[in-house]
Amino acid sequence: MEVPNDSDDEGGPLIRARELERVLGIRRIYLDFEGRNPTGTHKDRIAEAHARRAAEEGYSAITVGTCGNYGVAIAYYAKVYGIKAYIFVPAGYTLERTGETLSYGAEVIPIHGPYEKVVFESRKFAVENGAYDANPGSNPEVDYEGYSTIADDILSEVKPDAVFVPAGNGTTLAGIWHGFRKRGENPRMVGVTTSFGNQILWQFYGVETEEFVETPINEPLVSMISFDAIEALKAVYESNGYVFGFADDDAVQYALLLEKTEGVSALPASALTIAGLVKFARKFGMWRGNFVLVLTGGAHGGEGLGAYRGALSYVRWENRARACALLQKV
Ligand SMILES: Cc1ncc(COP(=O)(O)O)c(C=O)c1O
Repeated sequence: MEVPNDSDDEGGPLIRARELERVLGIRRIYLDFEGRNPTGTHKDRIAEAHARRAAEEGYSAITVGTCGNYGVAIAYYAKVYGIKAYIFVPAGYTLERTGETLSYGAEVIPIHGPYEKVVFESRKFAVENGAYDANPGSNPEVDYEGYSTIADDILSEVKPDAVFVPAGNGTTLAGIWHGFRKRGENPRMVGVTTSFGNQILWQFYGVETEEFVETPINEPLVSMISFDAIEALKAVYESNGYVFGFADDDAVQYALLLEKTEGVSALPASALTIAGLVKFARKFGMWRGNFVLVLTGGAHGGEGLGAYRGALSYVRWENRARACALLQKV
C-alpha cells in the first residue's frame, strides 16, 4: 500500500523529486539541496558555526586548508563576523571559486602539494599566528553540531529510511549521523565517493592501495587521509549503511539527469548520491522508502553544468576501467 506523503516541495528544506523517481523507478526521493545556502554548499553549515565561535572567543583571524567550497564558506562567514580569513588551497587544483573567496576579503595562500599538506600548512599557520583553526578534526564538536542541523531539517519533513551523503573526509556524514542519534533516529547512512582516492572507501572494502587520481570533478571527494574516517565508518556500520565508489562519468551523468528531471543544478561530485541510491536500491532490493540525497550547488561557479558536458567523453573510458580495476568488489 502506498503511504501517503504530503511533504511540501515549496519552502521546506527538502524537495520531493517526483520526476527523478519516475525515471529511476525508485519511490520517495527527497533532495536536501544545500545549493540554497549563501555560498552554495553544505560547508556553510559548519563555516557559520566556526566563524561564530572564533568571534565569540575573541580571535581576529581564522584559517582553513580547503579544495574550494569550504574556503568560500569560511571567507563569507568570516566577513559576516568581522574577522580575517586565511584560506590555504592546493596550487594545482581547479580553484574556480578563488575569485569569490577573495571578494569576501579573504587572503588565499596556494600551497604546492596534496590537500593533506595544505591542511597541515593551515594548521601550522594557526599555531604560529594565533588564528582560529577551522580545519577538519580541529574542533570536531563544532563540525558535528553544524552538520547535525541537516538531520534536523530532514526530520522536520520526513522520517528517512536511508540518507546518501557525498564523502571526502567523512565529516558531513559523521555530523549528520550525530544529529540523527541525538534525535533517537536511525536511518541507514550511505557514503558516496570517488573510486579514485578515498580512505573511507578503501577501508570499507579492505582495499590496500596508495593509488589516486584527482580530476576537476572528483576533487571534493579525494582524501588519501579522510580526517573523519573513523567516525564516518562508525556511522555506516552502526546504521547498517554502506559505502559506494564511482567514477567521474557517473557524477556528470547523474548531475545532468537531475538538472533535466528536477531543474536542480548540483555539483557533479554531490550528484553521485543519486548513483549511490540506484546501487543501493539494486543491492538491497529496496525500491521504495524515504530516501534523502544530500546535494550541493556550486556547479562550475554557479554557471551550470554545461562546462562539464565536454569533459564527459574524456572521463568516461579512462576512469571506468581504472575504477573497475581498483575496486572489483564494489
Ligand atoms: C561538494 C562536496 N561534497 C562533499 C564534500 C566532502 O565532505 P566531507 O569532507 O565532510 O566528507 C565536499 C568537501 O569539500 C564538497 O565540497
